[in-house]
Amino acid sequence: MTPAEQIAALRERIRHHEERYYIHTDPEISDAEFDALMRELVALEVQHPLLVTPESPTQRVSGRPAEGFATIAHAEPLLSLDNAYDEGELRAFDERVRKGLGLDADARVTYIAELKIDGLSIALTYEDGRLVRGVTRGDGVQGEDVTVNVRTIRAIPLRLRGVAPARLEIRGEVYLPNRSFARINEERERNDEPVFANPRNAAAGTMRTLDARLVSTRGLSMFAYQVVAPDGDPASLLATQTATLTALAAWGLPVEPHHATCVGIDEVVAFCAAWADARRDLEFETDGVVIKVDDVGSRAVLGATSKFPRWAIAYKFPAQQATTRVTRIDLQVGRTGAVTPVAVLEPVFLAGSTIAMATLHNQQEVARKDIRPGDMVLIEKGGDVIPKVVKPIVSLRPEGAEAPAPFVMPASCPVCQSPLQRPDEEVVWRCENPSCPARLRRSLEHFAGRKAMDIEGLGEALVDQLVSAGLVRDFADLYALDAERLAGLERMGQKSAANLVAELERSRTHDLSRLVFGLGIRHVGERGAQALARAFGTLDAIAGASVEQLQSVDDVGPVVAASVRAFFDAPATGELVERLRAAGLNFGAPVDPDADHGVKPLAGTTYVLTGTLASMTRDEAQAHLERLGARVTGSVSKKTTAVVVGADAGSKLAKAESRGVPTLDEQAFRALVGV
Ligand code: IVH
Repeated sequence: MTPAEQIAALRERIRHHEERYYIHTDPEISDAEFDALMRELVALEVQHPLLVTPESPTQRVSGRPAEGFATIAHAEPLLSLDNAYDEGELRAFDERVRKGLGLDADARVTYIAELKIDGLSIALTYEDGRLVRGVTRGDGVQGEDVTVNVRTIRAIPLRLRGVAPARLEIRGEVYLPNRSFARINEERERNDEPVFANPRNAAAGTMRTLDARLVSTRGLSMFAYQVVAPDGDPASLLATQTATLTALAAWGLPVEPHHATCVGIDEVVAFCAAWADARRDLEFETDGVVIKVDDVGSRAVLGATSKFPRWAIAYKFPAQQATTRVTRIDLQVGRTGAVTPVAVLEPVFLAGSTIAMATLHNQQEVARKDIRPGDMVLIEKGGDVIPKVVKPIVSLRPEGAEAPAPFVMPASCPVCQSPLQRPDEEVVWRCENPSCPARLRRSLEHFAGRKAMDIEGLGEALVDQLVSAGLVRDFADLYALDAERLAGLERMGQKSAANLVAELERSRTHDLSRLVFGLGIRHVGERGAQALARAFGTLDAIAGASVEQLQSVDDVGPVVAASVRAFFDAPATGELVERLRAAGLNFGAPVDPDADHGVKPLAGTTYVLTGTLASMTRDEAQAHLERLGARVTGSVSKKTTAVVVGADAGSKLAKAESRGVPTLDEQAFRALVGV
């Protein structure tokens, strides 16, 4: 076999296994065996760089758009669908179809019923069988060119199988499987990032990301359901939707398998009823059924209104709702002092879980919906993880003297009683008392978080105990805890107490950036904290910097700078800082002003980081390189000195190897930077 043949054969095997795994979810080989095939291909491509083509499975992550996504006009607009909410509306649709086609009342139209995937629509263009473009729906007339992100979705073939028209547009839905959604949200929760409300939002947010590498880790998938006639010629379309789905699958595209041919509307109604419950066992969210006239010729006869085709309709599953009583409206105080009203509900079982609380967001929202303590309310669970209160059932509200009073936001914090404040332009009321016990609890949880001081074992329950017992009144008190005192707490054994003390000890030496982030200064996120720590070197230098000096740091804008200044100007901060210093926390080392002129052993070199390092974060690795004078960039080029390769490295490694750029593993890298 020639190398070209060997490469072609390997790519075919890899695509076969991608299809087994990502389309049929029925793999034939282990992940390790699959990885070995990929490595074999990478090795061959390194030896024969001229044989690397964009369709190679090694090229799924392939750069990023420099200035956001380009806008592209669709060849044919992406229409949306008219909705049907009950059986009556389905029958009315059938009647319109029959009338439009000149059929009798007792004629039975052949429909195809497909699950309606709750994601975002996408238009894929294949030229000579090669994926050349992926465009979002946008406003239906023009969308965004998200090709780089689409290429990372392993269910989507970069190359079609068999014989396909020279130019082909395929439409379908990009979605996030429930499994990936749960994993992403767990990760975000651990990192103190806001969770996505539902898989659709997560998929849409991911598609808008400019970092294709991040997109490739999210686990998006896709189902194809439509072929747009090449050059708009309806005659070239497949004769039925059934034939279209068969063709799509034969080209190697993922097709949702549960579609059914229904002869007459009765069968459609039965299909919709069956899936209203059965959908809960699916791996993805579906919010309804799309019913399409199967015969493509009839579609042309029926045509479209300005918004919708007349040959299809979307049946929406009834929202999963329940009624229950709001026993009271509680207020939750967050780390930054934001006070959020929460409806405490009489527990009710809805779509798989018992619901006892629902956030009401803010006072305006409560007033707009007029939700009162004691009201019977309608609650709803859409695709959202968080149930919402739709409305009060006003007809059930007692009248006259018995009527519940409208909710009023109290003037003071429910926990510490200090007066609540609300800046004019905001909707959120805040408790501004920095030592409010509720804020303290949330702040301690944040301080101990994985991206901050990473104190394992110090979670919500323990924080609550420590604060309630009066053992901890600020971050510094944590460092006065000893095993003996901890072991005295409820549900705390000797061993856990000793572990926690060891964790606290370990955290003393963490990088300054973790401490800066952990302090929970408003508007200072993980990146901001890293930028501040890098630029100023010590906590004292940050604390002493003027707003102008702060703002001169990359990644630090006026809002962040003002917030940092305000934090260190607050009377309580000075004492806290001194106590943390006394506790022996790492306050950093001064940045040597001459250092830039001093010896920078890596000056003039350029490194690229890829994959995950076991001993440090990517930002820490970057800081080490920059400290020694190296530049760190995002893509491999001829100018790259070397690529630092961690676990799960992808195309950057492939690129480095194909361009003959040296690579360093973690051990070699640590030796280079001396850590
Ligand atoms: S057919 C003109 N089939 O639902 C026909 N759409 O509410 C266009 N959708 O914009 C769409 N699953 O994003 C079709 N099996 C399916 C679908 C589906 C989800 C989405 C699609 C469309 C929206 C209409």
